[in-house]
Amino acid sequence: MPFINDVLEQNQRASGTLPLTHTSRFRFDPQQVMTLLRSRIVGQGAALDTIEASLMVIKAELGDPRKPLAVILLMGPTGVGKTETVRLLAEAIHGKADALCRIDMNTLAQEHYAASLTGAPPGYVGSKEGTTLFDKTAIEGSYSAPGIVLFDELEKASEPVVRALMNIFDNGQLRLSSGTATLDFRNSLIFMTSNIGAQALWTYQQRQQQGWRKLLPNPWQLRREARLIDQALEKHFTPEFLNRIDQRLRFQRLGDEQVGQLVSLALARLNQRLTRHGLELVLSPDAHEWLGKQGFDRRYGARSMTRAFRQHLEPKVARWLLDQSGAEAGEQLLATLAPDGIRLTLVHPAQSGSSA
Ligand SMILES: Nc1ncnc2c1ncn2[C@@H]1O[C@H](COP(=O)(O)OP(=O)(O)O)[C@@H](O)[C@H]1O
Ligand SMILES: [Mg+2]
Repeated sequence: MPFINDVLEQNQRASGTLPLTHTSRFRFDPQQVMTLLRSRIVGQGAALDTIEASLMVIKAELGDPRKPLAVILLMGPTGVGKTETVRLLAEAIHGKADALCRIDMNTLAQEHYAASLTGAPPGYVGSKEGTTLFDKTAIEGSYSAPGIVLFDELEKASEPVVRALMNIFDNGQLRLSSGTATLDFRNSLIFMTSNIGAQALWTYQQRQQQGWRKLLPNPWQLRREARLIDQALEKHFTPEFLNRIDQRLRFQRLGDEQVGQLVSLALARLNQRLTRHGLELVLSPDAHEWLGKQGFDRRYGARSMTRAFRQHLEPKVARWLLDQSGAEAGEQLLATLAPDGIRLTLVHPAQSGSSA
């Protein structure tokens, strides 16, 4: 159901009371959206710049009204921020990171749900009448805010599913197999993620780091890398499918340069949860560095940082919270590195400042 202010605004526009120049029906501010994304996603500057450009085009309402607002493919290895980027967009646009319709192609590959997407008859074994993976509200958004759809792990999608996607990209619509409902994607930002080509690129990059090849000029390398990814994509998907994608974004593998920031982001998330205990946790430089080592693997990206915090830090904080009567106003919990791992002490900010 449309929000009342949307309806009002729509009426004002139709009656000409709203000036037509420089107004957009969309409320989101691309710059504000990007500020959130850039503060939470590290090492993906180029991909985020492209998203910003797409958001401006959408805000300016320059797109074809018969098609989805955007169809964007996020490519890259695991744990580099592809899914997180889409969740943050939902948070920036709708105020909630889960205000999106996420379809995991991995589940779809095994489940009867695929039937609802591909138009197989509703009597399909195991299917419940009217069962659908689709969240209509999240897909269609509202007059003033685009819906957000994420087809995660695209490489797992079966042929019929890929054909159904193509249909959505072309017509902006999908008729569900029950025959009664049609989903409208013309107000949707459609994202897909894939790790296609990531393995080939990794092998290539490993080889590049040895011997004379590392002497090759960088632009040459980058072109070669882009070609590797394109080749992998072209091997997996038909040109018809690839041609319907507006943007291909490459997410880079994270490296040592980003580890410090990843620890800081994980710490900020933990501190967010600690505010209701009136407590702030700070890390000494050696604890910071140690957690970075525990929680980062070039091969698997940032995925294990959360795990490292959960394993090495959170149980100690929890014990401290349960054992102590609490901190006084202004006191901080300082984590330092001891031979047996992280050690916590209560300090005054001035002290932690001098020991940091
Ligand atoms: N570039 C990044 N910047 C900040 N955090 C990241 C980044 N990449 C991954 N993370 C963290 O790692 C977790 C997994 O990231 P995700 O986006 O799901 O990876 P994938 O690229 O495999 O979709 C997320 O919860 C996120 O907090
Ligand atoms: Mg993902």
